[in-house]
Amino acid sequence: RARHGIRIAIDGPSGAGKSTIAKRVAARLGFDYIDTGAMYRSIGLKMARSGFFGEDGMHGGAVDPSREIDPDRLSSVLAETEIDFREGKVYLDGEDVESEIRNSEISKAASACAQIGIVREKLVDIQREIGSRKNVVMDGRDIGTNVFRDAEYKFFLTAAPEERAKRRFLELKEKGQDVVYEDILKDVEERDYRDTHRELNPLRKAEDAVEIDSTHMTIEEVVDEICSRVTI
Ligand code: DC
Repeated sequence: RARHGIRIAIDGPSGAGKSTIAKRVAARLGFDYIDTGAMYRSIGLKMARSGFFGEDGMHGGAVDPSREIDPDRLSSVLAETEIDFREGKVYLDGEDVESEIRNSEISKAASACAQIGIVREKLVDIQREIGSRKNVVMDGRDIGTNVFRDAEYKFFLTAAPEERAKRRFLELKEKGQDVVYEDILKDVEERDYRDTHRELNPLRKAEDAVEIDSTHMTIEEVVDEICSRVTI
């Protein structure tokens, strides 16, 4: 089998452990790890900085995803936006934004911008380009159903919402953020709803994806399960 262009797609709802698991699978197999959520988060950050989410930007709290977005202005902002990965970190216009995009306000901005067609088109193009020249483990929501419909391997990773909220809570707490479990659970549920109900490439399991419910599994068990199915 050709050693180039093997694509492992890992989709699932937020907090199912996709990024931790995808990163480890990639490390074990010697593949590049591409976090597509980080790409949507970076665009969310850029849109917030450019004032798309209201006068007071992200400080206003909740972002209304149904807010009218000026498509012409957005498309000119997108045309000047560069997103790439270096050593597993996402760069927005050359700036390392890895830590800045990991908070609940940017989660909302990302979820909002992920509903916009021209945003998805731009990011999917970049994702396909990366997958065409490298062996990748790519995680997201629409990798198996849209970005790489013909991926060599597809996984759909799930976990109960309460478990996912608990994991996200612990992760943010560890980073020193002042968070409340109930708020996170509400965020998780709202995001699930938006991600599965949006018009464009909603989150769903590809018919040919292997589903793994990680609620009662350790990270290592999930990584083993995925790697045991991959032949390189
Ligand atoms: O995985 P994450 O939480 O970092 O993703 C951030 C947002 O981006 C999330 O609301 C869903 C969206 N997303 C998407 O629509 N398609 C992807 N391939 C990846 C993420």
